[in-house]
Amino acid sequence: MDLTFDNRPSGQRACAALAIGVYEDTGLSASAAEIDHLCGGEIARLREQGDIEGRSGQILPLFHLPNVAARRVLLVGCGKEAEFGVSTYRDAVARAVRFANDLGCTDLACALPELAVADRDEAWKLQQAAEVAAGAIYRFDRLKSKPPVTRRTLQKCSFSVGTGDPVRAQSGLERGRAIGAGMELMRDLANLPGNICTPSYLAEQAQQLGTRYGLTVRVLEEDELRTLGMGALLSVTRGSRQPPKLITIEYRGAGNDHPCALVGKGITFDSGGISIKPAGAMDEMKFDMSGAASVLGTLKAVAELRLPVNVVGVIPTCENMPDGNASKPGDIVTTMSGQTVEVLNTDAEGRLILCDALTYTERFEPEAVIDIATLTGACVIALGAHATGLLTPDDALAAELIEAGEYAHDRVWRLPLWDDYQKQLDSNFADMANIGGREAGTVTAACFLSRFTKKFAWAHLDIAGVAYRSGKEKGSTARPVPLLTEFLIRRAARERSAAKR
Ligand code: BES
Ligand code: MN
Ligand code: ZN
Repeated sequence: MDLTFDNRPSGQRACAALAIGVYEDTGLSASAAEIDHLCGGEIARLREQGDIEGRSGQILPLFHLPNVAARRVLLVGCGKEAEFGVSTYRDAVARAVRFANDLGCTDLACALPELAVADRDEAWKLQQAAEVAAGAIYRFDRLKSKPPVTRRTLQKCSFSVGTGDPVRAQSGLERGRAIGAGMELMRDLANLPGNICTPSYLAEQAQQLGTRYGLTVRVLEEDELRTLGMGALLSVTRGSRQPPKLITIEYRGAGNDHPCALVGKGITFDSGGISIKPAGAMDEMKFDMSGAASVLGTLKAVAELRLPVNVVGVIPTCENMPDGNASKPGDIVTTMSGQTVEVLNTDAEGRLILCDALTYTERFEPEAVIDIATLTGACVIALGAHATGLLTPDDALAAELIEAGEYAHDRVWRLPLWDDYQKQLDSNFADMANIGGREAGTVTAACFLSRFTKKFAWAHLDIAGVAYRSGKEKGSTARPVPLLTEFLIRRAARERSAAKR
């Protein structure tokens, strides 16, 4: 979809549909009042008659209002003005875009960014509007044999901010577009089934991204992983017919600065291996490469924005399958770091591929490392679908991620990583076990990873609850691409202002 900025008065915007906000308690927003004035008080009349109360969730379409250039006007209920905030704003934009699309409109003029959102400026409003609009009409239908019958015609959406600063609005829109493009890449990759999105497929996609944006991509093959001594990663792939890969992808926007590293779990299907999972909803384990997909999506957004920062993506990728050759509970493997691991449960495979990838990441001399993984079911129980689990020993890095997440509305919640939990990983036979028992599963998984991150500043993001939706709405959410991109935008700004000093 073509997303633009157009700050002409709403009444003059010739288009298939114009979306304007109506509050429940205080009545018409500024652009609704402007339209009302042009058409002789029609909107106020409709309100008085009770045709629209302005409740959040309501939309009333009006056709061919006199003196209004738009062919349709969508009155978008925004709830009580004082309660209008980040979530209701995003929701209103999504509903307006979906409604226009369902009506079969080809273009929409959206005046909703003119509404005030507490503590947020026009840059934020346009950034969010662009992301939300792109996501609202996203469909994954490329694997259906016939094109869907539903009309999907919205091709353009232009936003206005009213009295807001147009320069800031434009820059917000550009960020929103880039983040939206990164999110779309993540969604497409994560939604693909395991028989198509294999480790080799992910490697090809990384190569294509590299070619398009001039990034350096390397794909390490199984024999090279063996030479490097990645016994943990290799133990996970043993049961699979698909060759494993370790993908690295480097974006250079800041000369010789030390890079930020993003390490993404790329299990293209997690059956659990010999510790096999129950059948119910096992298909959702195609999403177990969401961490990897978020790394590629974020690199795309960063490259689109040409951010002055260096980023390296590191993606260990393989399948976790049962087989006569698969790893067995009790097997002991030697990681690239030299530490040994007793694999008590082959379903705790994410940490096994990540630990070797984290050791490998040392060679980039990173200034910070963030790993992203659908790592534990326990995180879904703890935080649900709303917050990413954040675990790090580094308070400054935690603060950066928490703030970036708040701004991007892609939030994280910190869990403890105290040494007290480490002893749950004790093993009688190896340096550590790969599981820490029933209690605090998200924390012990991070404790495991922490043993491979002593040489750099590190944070772990457990995205098991946020990366995809189940049920009727099943599909990737593209989280945490907005969080990671915002984090890097802030790092780039910070480094630039440090360089000036
Ligand atoms: N990929 C799963 C975690 C997961 C579970 C993600 C549910 C999304 C939804 C991971 O590999 C896994 O199986 N973890 C186990 C660890 C356990 C064996 C210690 C889990 O959480 O049950
Ligand atoms: Mn698993
Ligand atoms: Zn997994």
